[in-house]
Amino acid sequence: MLTTSKELFKKALVEKYAIGAFNVNNLEIIQGIMQGVEAKNAPVILQVSAGARKYAGPVFLRKLIEGAAELYPNIPIVFHLDHGEDFEICKDCIDSGFTSVMIDGSKYDFEKNIEVTKQVVDYAHEKGVVVEAELGKLEGVEDDVKVEAGEGSYTDPDQAAEFVERTGCDSLAVAIGTSHGAYKFSGEPKLDFDRLKQIHAKIPNTPLVLHGASSVLQNFVEEINNYGGEVKGSRGVPEEMIAEATKYGVTKVNIDTDIRLGFTAAIRKNLTDKPENFDPRKPLGAAREAVQKMVEQKIDVLGCGGRI
Ligand code: G3H
Ligand code: 13P
Ligand code: ZN
Repeated sequence: MLTTSKELFKKALVEKYAIGAFNVNNLEIIQGIMQGVEAKNAPVILQVSAGARKYAGPVFLRKLIEGAAELYPNIPIVFHLDHGEDFEICKDCIDSGFTSVMIDGSKYDFEKNIEVTKQVVDYAHEKGVVVEAELGKLEGVEDDVKVEAGEGSYTDPDQAAEFVERTGCDSLAVAIGTSHGAYKFSGEPKLDFDRLKQIHAKIPNTPLVLHGASSVLQNFVEEINNYGGEVKGSRGVPEEMIAEATKYGVTKVNIDTDIRLGFTAAIRKNLTDKPENFDPRKPLGAAREAVQKMVEQKIDVLGCGGRI
């Protein structure tokens, strides 16, 4: 069933676990995720980026997610916009059935971020839709803006409290050292847990969100590289760190890269192992299975299994 994240996050915050927010781009990814969450009896957030809307088309994606809701009536599914870049895309999604949107004003200065976030919150709340905002900048390249590694761009705990107070946003994405993609750390993985604890202490009732939280699972990376791919030197956030973050207010953990890696690894292997095959359902079916297994593993790390 489609739902907002409001009650899900409230329970997760108290019981100290997080819900997996998985990026979806096509049928097999959605099916793999739903099979995984059903096996573990877990709520789920299916999130759609602007890139996903461009690739699959907003209508196809919405119908696929509505299909998931119809097929799995007992599983709470949040239909979420990932990284909405302005009011217009958020409004479009709110008007077309999303139950949750992210307004990503992290590229703006503090005051402008508050202004655009508040505009989305006012519109969304009137329609019963919840809003995730972002304060601080993730490292790496996003929308052609490059943020260098360093604490200068991390979320400031005092600002976080003021931001939530002034915008009325329902959840807050924080920057504590994660980044998007498969190359998150050049040296040892490190997250600023002291900062996360301080943020959580200032806004204990606000669900926090961790973007760039893929672990870059090395079994997938090895399979890709063994079957002709080149994803060398990639590194993600260790699973223990993700589990640790759920103790300090993180109730939503975003995962895209691990889906991409698992999907690609399975396709590469299947096509190489079965050169005589030309039925696309075979590699895509193997990819779907890889997504399901990966989702089940994530649910164990996040602690959201059996929470329905
Ligand atoms: O945070 C970004 C997500 O991984 C979505 O990526 O914009 O290429 O769909 P995308
Ligand atoms: P990863 O690239 O670590 O999977 O992060 C995805 C994300 O944050 C989507 O918003
Ligand atoms: Zn993100």
